[in-house]
Order: sequence, then structure tokens, then C-alpha cells
Amino acid sequence: MKKLIPIALLLTLFAACKQDPKINNNNPNDPDSLYQSSAYSGFPALTNRYRKIIIPADNPMTAEGVALGRMLFYDPVLSADSTVSCASCHNPRFNFSDSTPTSKQVFGSLTKRTTQVLIDMGVQKRFFWDGRKSTLEDAVADAMQGEQHVNYVFAKNKLEAQQRYTYLFKKAFGRPGDVTEDKIKKAIAQFLRTFVSYNSKFDKFMRGEASLTTDETEGFAIFNDNNRGDCFHCHADGPYLTFANQTLMFANNALDSVNFLYEFEDKGLGVFTLDENDNGRFKIPTLRNVMLSPPYMHDGRFSTIEEVVVHYSDSLKYSPNVDPLMQRFNDRGVHINQTEKNQLIAFIKTLTDTTFINKPEYQNPFK
Ligand code: HEC
Ligand code: HEC
Repeated sequence: MKKLIPIALLLTLFAACKQDPKINNNNPNDPDSLYQSSAYSGFPALTNRYRKIIIPADNPMTAEGVALGRMLFYDPVLSADSTVSCASCHNPRFNFSDSTPTSKQVFGSLTKRTTQVLIDMGVQKRFFWDGRKSTLEDAVADAMQGEQHVNYVFAKNKLEAQQRYTYLFKKAFGRPGDVTEDKIKKAIAQFLRTFVSYNSKFDKFMRGEASLTTDETEGFAIFNDNNRGDCFHCHADGPYLTFANQTLMFANNALDSVNFLYEFEDKGLGVFTLDENDNGRFKIPTLRNVMLSPPYMHDGRFSTIEEVVVHYSDSLKYSPNVDPLMQRFNDRGVHINQTEKNQLIAFIKTLTDTTFINKPEYQNPFK
């Protein structure tokens, strides 16, 4: 009799196994709606006019995946010491970035670089200041390991202890419905892909719904003028209006004075490619909502947009691989006068999209 108990137990277990969801994996006729997701339909109708959102075949957007990603983005439960969420650094108020040159990560240490903004994530092809990742999923995984030190065994247990999570993992990713690292990063990537900005004053102007003031119009002309602002080479990309060149992607914009390529303090793209010519080259950030996310540059060295404009106008620094697109580099800048500087800034302000940062679907779901 004593021996029979374990056998009975085994049999029950076996019976349970037979109903294991894995066995019915992907059966479209499965009546169990718990494993059926619904397609995501939240992209603004305008998106396709000038944005090509990259959606990998193995991570289609689902309403539940996006909802799950949103919770994981705002929930400190993922981090090693349960204190830091993605949103601790990527705060919607600051264009999904931070207001300080470096940010506090788990166990209180500081990030090496300035937190990047998360906007128009779905159109980008390289991630991080040094471009070390080429898919959003990989970037999310990198962020989890880097800034949050996620321990997956630990995180899995913490998430599986909460019904609201187990429910969404099943809905979003179907059978077998367990919590895995792969699904966590996919869900967060889905949420980030919904980040589309399309309602700045400049967008409305492009759609014929608003007109620019004289100063803004002049600022736009300066932005696009080789001899005055000379910004468009790097911060524009034809029809996409993301305000970061999606072909060039990386550049040395003459921030640091060095005589030899190995002297850059942060080697930027060179850290990843190990090509010395890439030292000092960094990801070209979007200028959308840039007014909301000081301080600026990979190390947060400039605290105002005025300082940035002075840099480009009057104080470019010498290094051997300054981008050739900085056409007035030999003069150390484009040297625009104060009125032109103000006009350029007036134009940059038209790129502010408060609809984006205030969109209810992007906010903390736990509040
Ligand atoms: C402690 C602050 C901090 C936390 C927490 C954090 N990040 Fe970041 N994030 C950064 C910094 C700093 C960078 C730039 C790092 C670099 O270039 O080396 C960055 C860059 C990124 C990028 C690249 C953006 C681009 O334009 O290339 C993505 C995507 C990202 N983070 C997503 C996330 C996600 C998702 C989470 C949560 C899982 C997260 N981050 C948590 C600080 C943080
Ligand atoms: C040769 C390419 C290039 C040109 C031309 C250029 N930029 Fe940049 N810009 C960059 C790069 C690269 C960065 C990031 C550099 C870094 O952090 O090390 C940057 C950063 C910025 C930032 C900071 C954004 C942030 O989120 O930190 C602003 C603002 C900016 N540029 C505005 C301008 C303006 C205005 C002009 C024209 C006067 C201009 N840029 C011309 C390449 C360029």
C-alpha cells in the first residue's frame, strides 16, 4: 500500500501531463480562449504615411502583448532588488528619458551614459548610443541585464505568483503560457513599438492643419541650410519625419577635442565595432520632443538647448574623424547670429508633441 501511493501520485501527474497545454500547442480549433490573443490595432491611422514600423515575424503585435509589456515596463518587480523599473529612467514626462546626466540603476550605482529617449522606437534599426543592438527585442534584453540586473529565475517566480501576469502571458503568447525571458522582452518590445509621435505642431503644419510663425519658418530654413544651421544632414530623413537620419545613424558631431582616435573618453560606436574610425561616433538622437529631455548628448554635458546651438554655431572641437557632413567644421561652426539662434530654437520647439507623452495608453497602468 505504501508503495502504491507514489504510483497513484505519478498516475495523477501523468493525467495532468496529458492535459498539458503543450500538447494542444497552436491548435486553431482549441476552444480555450485563454490562449487566444487579439491583434493590436492601436497605431494611429497616420502612421503609415511616413513611418515604417519594423515588426519581426516572430513577435507580432497583440493587444495583450502590448498590455503586458506596459505593465512590465512600469513594474520594478523585474529588477534584481525590486526597486527600479524601465520607467524609473525612461519617464514619460521627460520624453521617456531622465532629467539628469546619469541615472540611478539597481543597487544605487549610476549609469555610465545619459538615458536615451524612447520615441518612434519601431522605426529604428540600431539601439544604444554605441549601436550595439540591432533589434528592439535585443535592446530590451540588454537593458534588463544592464540597468536592472534582472535575475530571470527570480523574476519568473515573482511574476508567476501574480495572476494578472500569468493570465496575460497566456493570452499574449499562447501555449504553454509560462513566463520566460524571451516573452518578457518580446512583450516590452511590443509596448515600445506603439510609441509613435505624430502630433507636434510641425506634424500639423505638414498635414496642413497649422501654420508656422515667421520665426519658426525662418528656423526651419536655417535647419535645412548648409551654411547656417546645417542640421538636416543628420537630424532629418526625408519622408519619415523622425528627425534622426535612419541611414547614417551614427556621427561624430565634434564634441571632443582629441588629436588621436584612441583618446576619446567614451569610444561610442567604436566600443562595439572595435574599429578605431568609429571612436567618438554616437547614435544620432531624434529631435522630436527634444525640449522635454535635457540634459543633452551621450554624457548629458549640455543642460539647455541654447548651449547645444552655441556648440554647433561657434565651438566645434577638433578630432580626426569629425563627420564630413559638418560642412563648416573648418570654421569651427556655422556662426549664426543671436536672432538666427532664437529662430532655430523656435523651430525645434515645434517638434514638441505633448499628445505623445500624455497618451493614456503609455502611462503607468498601476496608478
Ligand atoms: C537605470 C536607468 C535605466 C533603466 C532602469 C533602464 N534604462 Fe534603458 N537606457 C538607459 C541608458 C543609460 C541608456 C543608454 C545606454 C547606452 O547607450 O549604453 C538606455 C537605452 C535604452 C534603449 C536604447 C534606445 C535607443 O534609442 O537606442 C532602449 C530601447 C531602452 N533603454 C529600453 C529600456 C527598457 C525596456 C528598460 C526596462 C527593461 C530600460 N531601458 C531600463 C537607462 C536605463
Ligand atoms: C554630422 C551630424 C550632425 C549634424 C550636422 C548635427 N547633429 Fe545634432 N547630433 C548629432 C549626434 C551624433 C548627436 C549625439 C552626439 C553625442 O551624444 O555624442 C547629436 C545630438 C544633438 C542634440 C542632443 C539630443 C539629445 O537627445 O541629447 C541636439 C539637440 C542636436 N544634436 C541638435 C542639432 C542641431 C540644432 C543641429 C544643427 C545646428 C545639429 N544637431 C547638427 C549629429 C549631428
